[in-house]
Amino acid sequence: MADAKSEVTLDKRPMNRREFLNFAWLVSLGFLTVNLGGVTFLFAMPRFKEGEFGGIYTYGKVSDLPPVDTPPVNLPKVKMWLSNTSDGVLGIYKVCTHLGCLYNWNNQEGKFICPCHGSQFQANGEYILGPAPRSLDRFAIQIVDPDTNTVLAESSDGSPVPVPDNPNAVIRIDTGKRVQGKRHA
Ligand code: FES
Repeated sequence: MADAKSEVTLDKRPMNRREFLNFAWLVSLGFLTVNLGGVTFLFAMPRFKEGEFGGIYTYGKVSDLPPVDTPPVNLPKVKMWLSNTSDGVLGIYKVCTHLGCLYNWNNQEGKFICPCHGSQFQANGEYILGPAPRSLDRFAIQIVDPDTNTVLAESSDGSPVPVPDNPNAVIRIDTGKRVQGKRHA
């Protein structure tokens, strides 16, 4: 009786051209499938996480707001200045509407001044002077009762949101909804 091991014969002949091309094609197909799967997975993921730029940012409660008409609050993580004006709260995009520099609040002058070409804006983001073609961009805001989730005040057109008389109400800013500032003449 023949030994089972001795019956196994290995085909050691080299791959011919057709076999090699089939093999290469299968490997390419495998890579393509893996890549497509990865891309689909990335597209399926939410683009922005809550609290990051591009998503809903919760600033805090009404009681956490700075006093009316004091310097705007710098929120670099979400590329925003929060301004509490006599007309209401505003979330202002940090990028200058001229050529995209990051402007700053100037305490002495009481206004935003862009270091690149000198455009100036009021605390509410409205254009004062300089080469910027329009006022600063603003984000949509909601102020919500945390117990009932009722929206107490909101703005989706960039206008200031009046602050409700509820110190516990929560301020949510949608940094994914940016409203372009008005063009000036
Ligand atoms: S980029 Fe701000 S003034 Fe030019």
